[in-house]
Amino acid sequence: MMKLLNGLLGWVDARFPLVSSFKAHASEYYAPKNFNFWYFFGSLALVVLVIQITSGIFLTMNYKPDALFAFASVEYIMRDVHWGWLLRYVHSTGASMFFVVIYLHMFRGLIYGSYRKPRELLWIIGMIIYLALMGEAFMGYLLPWGQMSFWGAQVIVNLFSSVPIIGHDLAILIRGDFVVSDTTLNRFFALHVIAIPLILVLIVAAHLIALHEVGSNNPDGIEIKKHKDANGIPLDGIPFHPYYTVKDGLGVIAFLIIFCAIIFYAPDMGGYFLEDNNFIPANPMKTPEHISPVWYFTPYYAILRAVPPLFGSQFPGVVAMGIATMIFFFLPWLDRGKVKSIRYRGPIYKTFLTLFAISFVGLGWLGLMPSTPTYTVISRILSVVYFAFFLLMPWYTRIDKCKPEPDRVTSK
Ligand code: HEM
Repeated sequence: MMKLLNGLLGWVDARFPLVSSFKAHASEYYAPKNFNFWYFFGSLALVVLVIQITSGIFLTMNYKPDALFAFASVEYIMRDVHWGWLLRYVHSTGASMFFVVIYLHMFRGLIYGSYRKPRELLWIIGMIIYLALMGEAFMGYLLPWGQMSFWGAQVIVNLFSSVPIIGHDLAILIRGDFVVSDTTLNRFFALHVIAIPLILVLIVAAHLIALHEVGSNNPDGIEIKKHKDANGIPLDGIPFHPYYTVKDGLGVIAFLIIFCAIIFYAPDMGGYFLEDNNFIPANPMKTPEHISPVWYFTPYYAILRAVPPLFGSQFPGVVAMGIATMIFFFLPWLDRGKVKSIRYRGPIYKTFLTLFAISFVGLGWLGLMPSTPTYTVISRILSVVYFAFFLLMPWYTRIDKCKPEPDRVTSK
């Protein structure tokens, strides 16, 4: 049996670089030996991507992208299609869990300075993934054609019409109509099931190629390539396979236990993963009392609402929201710290990062709430904190008192 397998491998390898690719990217790819909890989220993001694409393919087999039938086709999937309820809950839970994983993955970048030289491009590619993911989630949310699908899309697409001069035409271009309609549903379906997933897969591949070019950062924020043995192998590196394939496997099992618990016991997560209003078919004649996007968009939504309109136009809020998402792109150049990892940063960076995390979560919560005068004031304060983290970064990272970095990685 082994002989046959080896023969087959030899045959393939003479025609395709299978073994050499496996060696280069797994068994002879050296990763820092001190990866911790925060390093689980990259592989978990890959797992969720696969889950979403697979469950999405099967959902598409019974879903109807037609304003007259979309809502009923989702009900049909839930009630009549064999295991349809499971497929739908896997996909809806997967959408939220994707963002949980990605936000933790990005936060790891902040705490260990993973966006800093030489990983700037890796970070930028990551940000492009994040934007594509937001587009993918936004378009997917219209498909069940419930009240929140419809009105959420209506509100967000209307924001584009606040852009001076081109706004009106831009909104029509996105909708394909003067209001969110069957045409909008059709184009969002096309983008959600094929265009964006294709782009996502390609840029995730680029992300991994860039990662393997520069190598991973680690919780100490120092480069393992600085100390190599006579064979050119980093002294603080261990082969990705089997060490991290096994370790990441453990992360995947833990993640799947949580994932299944949500699917089986709280698939709507109390209205956070699937909003109550979305169990009502879309009705263009009846606006829901309170419209808010799904939780993963709400920090930006709160910033949008925090900025007062100018001459009746929401454009300043839209600009603030746009900058709030795009500003992450500039992190590699905003950070002037002498060290990368939080372990060796001074008290100022730690304070700013903590305040930033509080502002992000706080804004996320406020974005889910109806806007009241008190909440608006709090949103404004938190928005200032949010932007201060980035805009003051070149200053406070330079003056911060850092601790000396170790020469070699530590195994804490
Ligand atoms: C579908 C989405 C994504 C997938 C599948 C993915 C996958 C991965 C994987 C497998 C790793 C190596 C393991 C690890 O370090 O955890 C990684 C590292 C990294 N990713 Fe992502 N990623 C995604 C999105 C993002 C986003 C949105 C960003 C940031 C905006 C990002 C920034 C980074 C950085 C900076 C590293 C290197 C971290 C370090 O070495 O400390 N990634 N990614």
